[in-house]
Order: sequence, then structure tokens, then C-alpha cells
Amino acid sequence: MKRRVCIVTGGANGIGRCITERLWEKGDFVAVIDRDIEAGKRLESKFNKERFYFFAGDITEKTVIEEFVEELVKFHSHVDILVNNACIGKGGLNHCSYEEFNYVLRLGISAPFYLTKLLMPYFNQGASIVNIASTRAFMSQADTESYTAAKGGILSLTHGMSVTLAGKARVNAISPGWIDTGTYQKEEDYKPNHSEEDISQHPAGRIGNPDDIAQMVLFLCSEKASFITGQNFTVDGGMTKQMIYHGDCGWSYEPS
Ligand SMILES: NC(=O)c1ccc[n+]([C@@H]2O[C@H](COP(=O)([O-])OP(=O)(O)OC[C@H]3O[C@@H](n4cnc5c(N)ncnc54)[C@H](O)[C@@H]3O)[C@@H](O)[C@H]2O)c1
Repeated sequence: MKRRVCIVTGGANGIGRCITERLWEKGDFVAVIDRDIEAGKRLESKFNKERFYFFAGDITEKTVIEEFVEELVKFHSHVDILVNNACIGKGGLNHCSYEEFNYVLRLGISAPFYLTKLLMPYFNQGASIVNIASTRAFMSQADTESYTAAKGGILSLTHGMSVTLAGKARVNAISPGWIDTGTYQKEEDYKPNHSEEDISQHPAGRIGNPDDIAQMVLFLCSEKASFITGQNFTVDGGMTKQMIYHGDCGWSYEPS
């Protein structure tokens, strides 16, 4: 099988790390850009250098993205897979400053846009871009506007880029629900401990794990998905499909 060149932003921890590991296990070359140097170095010592590259940097900085692409294309003349995964939230109307709001938008929308733009000359025929959104693009807890806006934005970016890159790269999004990333963080011996209340919100009968998302990434980047572009796939164990009224499913409303 041809060795694909893959890029995972925020690939040093959590869902991104799981995606990185699965692509690497498939025999692909994986480049990770992440601001967590310690976690990146841990991955470097785990994987052979021939098929793994870690670039430390904050992708909200334009120059960091430029330096990363410049370095990568010194050794690889083409790119097959780009996973725009890195994102965090910084609250909403009550606590998020103007600067923090813009930081999250730079991370969740501008960085995927700019990285894709710089990589355009290098995408191989049949390349695939996967943007990691969230079910929070469609529903919210109070005071989370920075994150939900970034996630809504990346969904629009997804269909926009799928049209612009038609014939060059397929572009899709995955919207994860609640994914417990504990086993892909620093503590390798993490044991999930979910309450019955939390589990029962999921028709699938459990909370998600990073592999639920990584497997969808592998599928979307494969030939099997060659007719799929511009789409969003919700992977949430059905949590956003379960309508709960007072008294349903053992749930009752208790005013605080
Ligand atoms: N975990 C969930 O329940 C969940 C649910 C829905 C969507 N998501 C999305 O999945 C993606 C991964 O989430 P996760 O839970 O694995 O997050 P995580 O915090 O465990 O990992 C994020 C990674 O991105 C890196 N990162 C953060 N900001 C960065 C920056 N400015 N520059 C470079 N790297 C940066 C971090 O260092 C980290 O390695 C995110 O887009 C998140 O919004 C997660």
C-alpha cells in the first residue's frame, strides 16, 4: 500500500493523538503540530522518526503555520490527509474577553483555513481533509459561545472548501459528542468512571472514546468514502437525538 502523508493538528493528546496513532499503525507518515512540547516528545520517542514528525507550535500564530508547512514540504512533496483537530473553548458572554474569543476563532477556524490554503499546491489527487467540529455546533450550554462559534464556523468552512477543492481533495467534518479522552492523555493507566445518569443520556449505552472518532477519520480518508464530500458526521452515541421530557427515561427536573 502507498504510504500516505498525513497531518494532524493537536495530535499530541486526546482525540488527535488517537487519530495520529491509528494513521501511524496503518503505515502512514504522520506529522503532528501541537503546542504541547512534552506530549509531542513522548510521541517522538514512541514512533520511529522515519514515519513521524513533531512540530511544536501554537497554530493561532500565522508564522507558526507558515514555518510548519515550509519544514514539511522540504521532505514531502505531497500531502494526502489533513485532520484539523486542535481546538479549545474559552467560555462565552459572561467570562470570555474579546481577545479570548478571537483566539478561539483563530484556533478553530482561521488555522484550518490557512493551513489548507498553504497546502493547496501539495495535495495529492484523492486527498482528504477532515475537520473536527462538535455537537456543540448545534446545541449549547450557557456561556460557551467562543467554542460553539468556532465549531459552527468549521462546519461552514467544510462545505465551502469541499466546493473550492472539488476534484483535488474531499473535505468532511466529524462532530463528536461526549468523548472521554482520558486514555489518550498523560495518565496511561486512566480508568473511566461514568455515572449511570451520564451513560443513560446516550442511546448507544456508553460515553464515547477517541477511537470512535479515529475510526470515522480512517473511513472518510479511505477510497471507500470517495463519493462523500462536504458533509458532517455526528458521532455522539445518539446523545443529540434523545429528546428528554420531565419524567422521561428516569429524568426529573429539580429547580436549583
Ligand atoms: N473530547 C470531547 O468530548 C470532544 C467533543 C466534541 C468535539 N471535540 C473536539 O475534538 C478535538 C480534540 O479534542 P480533545 O478533547 O481531544 O482535546 P485535548 O485538549 O485533549 O487535545 C487538544 C490538543 O490540541 C492541542 N492544542 C490546543 N490548542 C492548540 C494551539 N493553539 N496550537 C497547537 N495545538 C493546540 C493541545 O495541546 C492538545 O494536544 C477538538 O477540536 C475538540 O473541540 C472534543
